[in-house]
Amino acid sequence: MNEDRSAHKFILLGASRGLGWATYQVLAKKYPAAEFMLVSRKIGEGNFKSLRYDFSKELSSEFITEIINFNPTTIIYFAAGGPYGNFQDKKWADHQWALQVSFLFPAQLVHHLMRISIPSLKKFVVVGSAIAENKPDPGAASYCAAKHALKGLITTLQAENKSAFNCCSFQIDLFSPGYIATDMLPAQSWPRQQELAASAENVANQLIDSLN
Ligand SMILES: NC(=O)c1ccc[n+]([C@@H]2O[C@H](COP(=O)([O-])OP(=O)(O)OC[C@H]3O[C@@H](n4cnc5c(N)ncnc54)[C@H](OP(=O)(O)O)[C@@H]3O)[C@@H](O)[C@H]2O)c1
Repeated sequence: MNEDRSAHKFILLGASRGLGWATYQVLAKKYPAAEFMLVSRKIGEGNFKSLRYDFSKELSSEFITEIINFNPTTIIYFAAGGPYGNFQDKKWADHQWALQVSFLFPAQLVHHLMRISIPSLKKFVVVGSAIAENKPDPGAASYCAAKHALKGLITTLQAENKSAFNCCSFQIDLFSPGYIATDMLPAQSWPRQQELAASAENVANQLIDSLN
């Protein structure tokens, strides 16, 4: 990433730990003058504006106002998850949570952002999954369904924006990493046991490179 992002303002959604937190740390080190808003259910205090919000709830007008008032140049949505185990053994409420946090919330957010004008906003990035958006993911059916849906949505919006349906003043990207060594992938899981999971810092660097 060669461009000086010091004048840039990042909103990182789901960044209290894992890839979101690693992305914040790499960006803050590289671009000390950049401004940040970090959002999650349990976000702590730091050299950033912190906002506690639960993406399993509907998008609220108060949340949109916080976003508009921050004048972001880049918004990155990291949050995702879901129950692990046989589909039928898990409560429907847990599958609904997975679909809401991993697909419906970012879908509703991008829909809203496309309908209002935030002049500063240049880029909206959603984190997908190279595995779950393309293949079956046994034990994670609702998470996998959400990631497939996210890919379908974002690639369609990208296609519409190249066509006569062009309607969007900011770029929409899908960043789809492979396995990452975070809380989402327990230490005893086979990808980590077989050392197939990249460090969150390495993946954060790839994500930041992809912003150009
Ligand atoms: N780990 C992997 O192997 C892997 C592979 C491919 C793709 N990905 C993708 O990478 C992204 C980041 O995953 P990760 O591994 O960093 O996960 P993680 O370590 O579990 O972190 C998830 C982040 O999302 C936030 N979050 C979760 N539910 C939320 C909710 N309802 N409301 C608000 N914030 C919420 C969490 O913060 P709080 O708990 O504070 O709310 C946390 O900051 C996800 O989209 C994931 O699908 C991960």
